[in-house]
This record gives sequence, C-alpha cells and structure tokens, in this order.
Amino acid sequence: MCGIVGYAGKKQVLPILMDGIRNLEYRGYDSAGFAIIEPNGKIKSVKSVGKISALEEKINGTEVNGTTGIIHSRWATHGGVTEANAHPHHDCSGSIWLVHNGIIENYKELKSHLVKKGHKFTSETDTEVVAHLIEEIKKSQKLTLPEAVALALRQIKGTYGLAIIDSHNPGQLIAARNFSPLLVGIGDGEYLVASDASAVIKHTRRVIYLNDGEYAVLSPDGFEVYTLSSRPVKKDIKQLDWDMEVAKKDGFAHFMLKEINSQPEAIENSIRGRLIADEGMAKLGGLESIKEKLRDVKRLHIVGCGTAYLAGKVGEYMLEEYAQIPVKTEVGSEFRYKKPVFEKGDALLAISQSGETADTLAAIREAKEKGVLTLGIVNAVGSSIARDTDAGVYQHIGPEIGVASTKAFTSQVTILSLLTLFLGRQRAMSLVMGQRIAGEIKKLPALIKEILKTDSQIKKMSQKYSKYGNFLYLGRKYNLPAAFEGALKIKEISYVHAEGLGAGEMKHGPLAMIDNNFPSVVIVPKDSVYEKNISNIQELKARGGPVLAIATKGDKEISKLADDVIYIPKTLEMLTPVLAVVPLQIFAYHFGTMKGYDVDKPRNLAKSVTVE
Ligand code: F6R
Repeated sequence: MCGIVGYAGKKQVLPILMDGIRNLEYRGYDSAGFAIIEPNGKIKSVKSVGKISALEEKINGTEVNGTTGIIHSRWATHGGVTEANAHPHHDCSGSIWLVHNGIIENYKELKSHLVKKGHKFTSETDTEVVAHLIEEIKKSQKLTLPEAVALALRQIKGTYGLAIIDSHNPGQLIAARNFSPLLVGIGDGEYLVASDASAVIKHTRRVIYLNDGEYAVLSPDGFEVYTLSSRPVKKDIKQLDWDMEVAKKDGFAHFMLKEINSQPEAIENSIRGRLIADEGMAKLGGLESIKEKLRDVKRLHIVGCGTAYLAGKVGEYMLEEYAQIPVKTEVGSEFRYKKPVFEKGDALLAISQSGETADTLAAIREAKEKGVLTLGIVNAVGSSIARDTDAGVYQHIGPEIGVASTKAFTSQVTILSLLTLFLGRQRAMSLVMGQRIAGEIKKLPALIKEILKTDSQIKKMSQKYSKYGNFLYLGRKYNLPAAFEGALKIKEISYVHAEGLGAGEMKHGPLAMIDNNFPSVVIVPKDSVYEKNISNIQELKARGGPVLAIATKGDKEISKLADDVIYIPKTLEMLTPVLAVVPLQIFAYHFGTMKGYDVDKPRNLAKSVTVE
C-alpha cells in the first residue's frame, strides 16, 4: 500500500523524508516522489518510477533546501505506473501539493466540475482532484489553507490519509484522515506525519493518532487538531514502545497475523463504492467497458493457483447457483497443458494476488490466442495479469507480505460474490435476491471482526491439537474449497500433513485412516448440507477420530457431537467460506509459531511464483 511521510520543523527536510520513506519500503510500491518548500518560497518536487533508489539517483547532486515537505511511495490504484501519476500532486498554481493514501470515490464528478471551472489536470489519478478542489475553495471563498482543506474534505467521498503543504504557508503541514491510517509524531519543535509508525520512530516515540474525519495543522510552533466542521479536538499523546520491526507489523508479531487481522479493512476496501445495496447490484468500474459483452457470456473458465484457485472454486459455486452461468475452475498448471475446449460465449477469469503467477498468465495467453474474452481479479495494479486481461477488478487490499495468503483469499471470494451479483442481475437474479446478497456482503467486515476476537480460544485449540501430525479438513459445497484452504494453510506454515477433502468422499477411501490419533477439522455451518456433515462427524466419532468443528454460533447440537467447536457468525450460505476460513488461518498461524517456524517465510516457498 502507499506510504506517506511529512515533516514540519527546523531541520533540513530531505534526508528526513528519504529515510522515512525507506522505512515504508516493505509495504510495496511502484513509484515515489517528494515536494519541499524551498527558502525562496518555491516548491521543489522530484518524482520517479521504480525504487526509492531511482528517486535518490535522480536527485543526486541537486541541492534541495527546506524545512517543510512531504514524500510518498505509490502503489497504483487509479492510473498507470508513471511519473505523472506518482505523488505529490499539485493545483493549477503549483502552490498546493499533497500526497494521498486511499481512494476518492467521487473524483470523476468533482473533476468534471473543476474542469468546467478551468482547472487543468496533469495526471490520471483520483488524488489530483483534492489539490484542485482545495485551490478552488481557497481562492473563491478567500479562506486560509486549513479552512479550505476542511471544506474540501467535506465534499469528498472515499478514504484518505493526506499530507498537504502550500508554498504560501511555509512551515505549515496539514494532515487529514478518513479510513486510511495516519499518525502524527511529536518532536521538539518538529512534527512528522506518517502512514505507519516505522517512519517516525527514529525521531520521536510520542504520537497522536488521528481519527476518521479529523485533520491536524502542524508547524514548528505547535499543533492543533480539528474535526471537518472545524471544531477543535483535544488529543491524547501516546507513547510508542515498539521497535522498528514490530512497528512495521503494526504491533503484531508477524505480517501473517497483521494480515489476518486486517481482513475487515481489506474487505471494506474491496467492496468500497462497488455495492449498490438498495438496487441489489454491484458496480464494478473495471468491467464497465465490457458490460454488454458480459451479457453474452455463456460459460466461464476460472483459473488460478493455490489459494487463488480455491477462491475461484468458491466462485464457481456462487456463479452457478445465483448467476446460472456454467463454470469450470482449474489450476493454471493443468489448464495450460490440457488443450482446453473453448466455445462461442466462453470467457476466462484469472485470479491472482500478485498478478505475476506464471501458470495463470500462461492460461490467459492460451485463451487470448483462441479469441476468448479474458477477465482478472488481481491485487497488484499494473502487474502482468492486470495488463494482459481484457478487463478486471482490482482487490485494493494493499500488498500481502506474509507468504501464506490470507487477506487475498477472503477479498477474492468477496469480489467473486460482487461478480455474482453483477452477472446474476444481468440475467435472472431477482431484485429481492440481489438486495439480500448485497446486504449480507456489507456485513462481512463486522462479522470477521467478531471472529478475530476469539483468537485466544483458537490458540488454545491449536495447542491442544499440536500433538497430531496428520489432519483431514472436511467440508461440502461452498466450504469444500474452504476446507482445502484450511489444509493448505497448516501445511505451508507448520509443515504438518493435512488433506482437504469433500466430506462426502470420506467413505470412499480416506475414512480407513481414521483412528484416535487422526483428527479432522470439519466445516459445518448451518447450511443446506448441515445434516450431511453431521452424519460425517458421526462416522468419524464412531472410529474414535477427534473432531474440531467450525460451526454457526448458536448451534447447540454440534457441541454434543464434536470434541471442540469454534463458532462463526451466521451469514448467507454462499458467503460462509469468507468467515469459516478465518479461524482456520488463525489456527494454522498459532500451530506454526508454536513450532517455532518463521510463518512469514515458510521454507521452500516464494511469495510470487513466476516460474512454471
Ligand atoms: C498459499 C499461497 C499460494 C498462492 C499461489 C497463487 O497460501 O499463497 O498458493 O495463492 O501461489 O499466487 P497468486 O495469487 O499471486 O497468483
């Protein structure tokens, strides 16, 4: 995700900004840039595509003086990876400069209004609109910079962490936040703004956290915090007691744990601006240009690898049941070699967090060769898969650093549910059904938050089960892929053998392995296959097999049957995998850490598999 650092103080700002942004490099980025108010009152800005070192090379030898400035590392969301799209962005006069994390949802409307007023834009980003809007309000209403910022932000829909400077106000730095992390570091006569504590910790451990809808006005003389209606807010100063490594993980012991816990926010970001709940519809900007072609799609091939493939499998169930489109989901490594048969009306949907997985990419190329429409669900903007597909939907969840995929899976399944709404409503799905699905999708972040609260209970469970060396993970229908995903998680981070299996397949062979030393994890929510799963649990118990069940809150029957139960909240059957997988991720996480393994970097694995 993008990184922000800002400084207002008495020291030379460039080295502080460069050092701060380097500490945010771990978050992933594709370009970077800074803007500094020089002593002559002019702004010096340098941007570059690629690594921070490329930015450093570009300024090598140039003197940049000044004590107020902002810097940004960008992870593209709107507009390609170019210097023009890199932050900071500025207004027409070149005096107001800002850096932004988040997404401005109503930027198109604001932009067309500002263009009519004569504003000239120089990038394709949603961010630039904020600089012009502040300029417009400041000039037309003759306001101070903080006043204009507050009014502008009241017109903005979306998420932001912002750091703003204005050459007419040298020494002043404004920071604002709405659903995008931002903190203010408080030094001695100096202030830092950052999207992440690791950028300030070297300078100060005293910080204030801005709440959503608040902005701070900082200068070497002091700081003030206000609400967007310009009411002053008294903030408590907190003490950071993290070291640098922990700061990067937001206080979590591992990136994997941070990412598991960030799933409510990640899903919020994946659905933001895309759900039209009262119309029971999804608005997927990336598919708008091919909306009419999608009406004619008769069959879908879904392709992915590992976790992305399993997310696709859940999508297969959703799309067949609710959009009535026949779907075939396959792993990329098979698809590319099996000479798939394409027919008129076929489309291919590739799913990939990194957007660089070689087998998935090869499947897209195969389909394109045959003239098949190709779509993508991708996290990494501008990646090979994002570029190679005809159209697609970005996940907007920020980089996933832990090698084991967690937030990518729940976000991919959520986006597949949006796609099901989108395609379903183009076909036979009723308004009422659309509204029902949309309403339940909206609740997912809050429901995941509930599950995250049970971490310590799940930890105890993984302690109890840590004596076993083999596991079966069982599920049916929507939760069959979730069972496979649970098994994959424990395999890859704790090196323990686990096998995902459709519960109905157990009697056809694997049941022979079950005894009191072979536990099963069974996903058994109150859904259309609940009774069938209960029978399977009885069969396991009859052979002495220990059973850990993932069940729906309020299910009393299951506690009499299974040895242990982890409860998840109730949701629509098609969305249960999004919830069921979360305790399985936590279970695997504790299992792996208990064994002393580096769960962020499991042995033999790489985050991005760019070879076959
Ligand atoms: C498992 C995992 C892998 C990836 C797979 C595909 O936890 O991370 O199975 O899901 O390598 O990667 P992407 O999604 O980048 O194509």
